[in-house]
Amino acid sequence: MSTPLIEARGVSKTFAGGGGEPLKAVDEVDFEVRAGELVALLGPSGCGKTTLMRVLAGLEPLTTGEIRIDGAPASGPRPDFGMVFQSPTLMPWRSVFDNVMYPMEVLRRHRSAAARARVRALLESVGLGGFERHLPAQLSGGMQQRVALCRALVHEPALLLMDEPFGALDELTRLQLNDLLLELRRASGTTIVFVTHSIPEAVYLSDRVLVFSARPCHIDREIAVDIAYPRSLGVRHTAVFNDLEREAERALGLERA
Ligand SMILES: Nc1ncnc2c1ncn2[C@@H]1O[C@H](COP(=O)(O)OP(=O)(O)O)[C@@H](O)[C@H]1O
Ligand SMILES: [Mg+2]
Repeated sequence: MSTPLIEARGVSKTFAGGGGEPLKAVDEVDFEVRAGELVALLGPSGCGKTTLMRVLAGLEPLTTGEIRIDGAPASGPRPDFGMVFQSPTLMPWRSVFDNVMYPMEVLRRHRSAAARARVRALLESVGLGGFERHLPAQLSGGMQQRVALCRALVHEPALLLMDEPFGALDELTRLQLNDLLLELRRASGTTIVFVTHSIPEAVYLSDRVLVFSARPCHIDREIAVDIAYPRSLGVRHTAVFNDLEREAERALGLERA
């Protein structure tokens, strides 16, 4: 088998705790993600999911263990990754177009006509053609999050890390953005790690769900989602889908087995 894109072995993270007790957020986490997979990390609020994502992104050093990306030990921030957070974190003074172009500027790839064409095509593909010159404040929350998604994909990232990206949106917008994400993923083949505390969202989107315990988080269960893509809303009402949701509920300790 080929080398996994991500290999995490015995990854733990303890915060020093500024005078108080040290706080262990991530406890001996082991997992792999293969190129092209969409893996959901599902766990209760406060269990350490964001901490683990920050460690994966190289924004936070780990305390013990090892992460390998494409076979090489990970070290430091990764401008070749894309990230989407719960809030869109757009630069308010920049237009939609210039926000999406930003990662290309960091990588010094922004000066070509091809880069400009890519930004326009991405915005078009998420239904934001014609909004290039708008400022973030002129857009709805769902539109802003679509801009953030374009910004995360513009440089064709080796890995897309998404930390509860649709958690602050209303349910209808969230359902639409779930389908948009699957469509973008189908078109690009990007490897995605997607954090959520929503059971149906985790099952709907992913090839596999890793279920985390309460803090300090470790992986309690891995659930393979054997439902073919493309998926559409109706699949949420099938027996297969509901069984997977129940399995996740049990793994989270929400239902006695
Ligand atoms: N920089 C930090 N310093 C100290 N403690 C932190 C820091 N970041 C997160 N924590 C703590 O780590 C735990 C896990 O937080 P987090 O990873 O944000 O959880 P989740 O994303 O699953 O809700 C929490 O108890 C939080 O207070
Ligand atoms: Mg979080």
